[in-house]
Amino acid sequence: MSKNKNLSAEEKFKAVISHSKEYGFIFQSSEIYDGLSAVYDYGQCGSQLKNNLREYWWRSMVQLNENIVGIDSAVFMHPTTWKASGHIDAFNDPLIDNKDSKKRYRADVLVEEYIGKIESKADKEVEKARKRFGDSFDEYLFRKTNPRVVESERKKEEINLRLKNALEQNDLAALRQLILDLEIVCPVSGTRNWTEVRQFNLMFSTQLGSLSDDAQTIYLRPETAQGIFVNFLNVYKTGRMKIPFGIAQTGKAFRNEIVARQFIFRMREFEQMEMQFFIRPGTEIQWYNYWKEKRIQWHYAMGFSKIKYRFHDHIKLAHYANVACDIEFEFPFGFKELEGIHSRTDFDLKNHENQSGKRLQYFDPDMNESYIPYVIETSIGLDRLFLAVMSESYCEEQLEDGSERTVLRIPPALAPVKCAVLPLVNKDALPEKSREIMKNIKLDFDCMFDAKDSIGKRYRRQDAIGTPYCLTIDHQTLEDNTLTIRERDSMTQERIALEEVSRIIEDRVSLKKLLKLII
Ligand code: GAP
Repeated sequence: MSKNKNLSAEEKFKAVISHSKEYGFIFQSSEIYDGLSAVYDYGQCGSQLKNNLREYWWRSMVQLNENIVGIDSAVFMHPTTWKASGHIDAFNDPLIDNKDSKKRYRADVLVEEYIGKIESKADKEVEKARKRFGDSFDEYLFRKTNPRVVESERKKEEINLRLKNALEQNDLAALRQLILDLEIVCPVSGTRNWTEVRQFNLMFSTQLGSLSDDAQTIYLRPETAQGIFVNFLNVYKTGRMKIPFGIAQTGKAFRNEIVARQFIFRMREFEQMEMQFFIRPGTEIQWYNYWKEKRIQWHYAMGFSKIKYRFHDHIKLAHYANVACDIEFEFPFGFKELEGIHSRTDFDLKNHENQSGKRLQYFDPDMNESYIPYVIETSIGLDRLFLAVMSESYCEEQLEDGSERTVLRIPPALAPVKCAVLPLVNKDALPEKSREIMKNIKLDFDCMFDAKDSIGKRYRRQDAIGTPYCLTIDHQTLEDNTLTIRERDSMTQERIALEEVSRIIEDRVSLKKLLKLII
């Protein structure tokens, strides 16, 4: 029996980041030039895992739903798109500069970090008490009665309320006053010499056209959703779609995030997987609940513990939504948004209709009338999903014989490499036989051939990239066409006939296994 090493959340997060680099999952972008902040590249294993995650999403949307079709729209769009969507006017973050360090911060995040410090102080009190009282410790009672913890809680609530009011009323002066009252200092200069708070648009702009005179300012899309809205009519007409129907797409989005930390959690270039579901007005709550349930089941099907996920209802709604929630995941740095589900009403289509002058309506044959459909959107960040899968799969284990291994328990259907082909020794015609086997099974799965080092070391390398199965070809294989199959998580080995290999692996690593759980 192996035993999981108990890593603290912080240790685990650091380990996931260095493992991602060491095994070719994620590299800092343009690393040889010291990197580009909050931009990352996916390596040989990472790009494969990312493809598999995208495919799981795409097939669950487009293949399993007869009324959902997929598109692939351009990153560049007509600039009026962003006027209609509200991004030019409302896609802002409140920023503040420190005059001494010249560093720029998101004002709301400075306050949130201050609240975080209050929380961690209170948590430390709780941990100290837990150690003192042992098994008889009642955390709930302690938090309700300990004067220092109670005071922290009161202070936290007071600050949260001021922050919420300032943000909701777009009161930038009140936000700055909160920072001053809390005596928040710049982490770099250590001073409280702050500028005013200003709104800063998150879209990247560039020029279209070669001559500066006729160049037109366009934006890198901050969400893929608008590519779907502007194609609503095209898809509805050419696909002969009937409401309710959905349009899905995956693709890059760009945001000039000011607070871009936590590895690939918040990036400046990232990938979204979005689906807009067009419905009859008045049915939005029914479909919103439907998609909440569908999406959480999709996450559960991957097999990670259900307690890692929770819904968070939005109190402050985005400019386009009338009801919205997030599916949050417990990352090593706490519960954070992984996916958003929004009821967007007819906000987008109506504004595109106004801006373009084109009628973006649906003729409902059952009601014998035309209307602008309402929309339920599901929107998940592929990179965040990747981080969730990596951090949940990463394990450091103590084995029975005293040795240790690092294993990525990635759901087999999503693993970058499904099967490794390993000749027991690199001689005696075993490599040749192994190559022959590899030639056949690579038609079915992503496989890796490895003949270097001891078989134990090679198993460890495969564990570290999450390969569910290793096939070992030995001298007996030459005699009777059988080989050993080793399973990653249990490390059990079984002797099977060569002709059984593809069927056995297929049975265990097929995406169909996940899709069946959500159909
Ligand atoms: N179309 C709706 C929309 O874009 P959002 O909540 O801003 O909504 C949707 O983004 C998802 O995109 C988020 O739940 C998150 O997973 C991902 N996402 C947003 N900003 C991101 C960033 N800077 N880096 C990585 N992922 C991001």
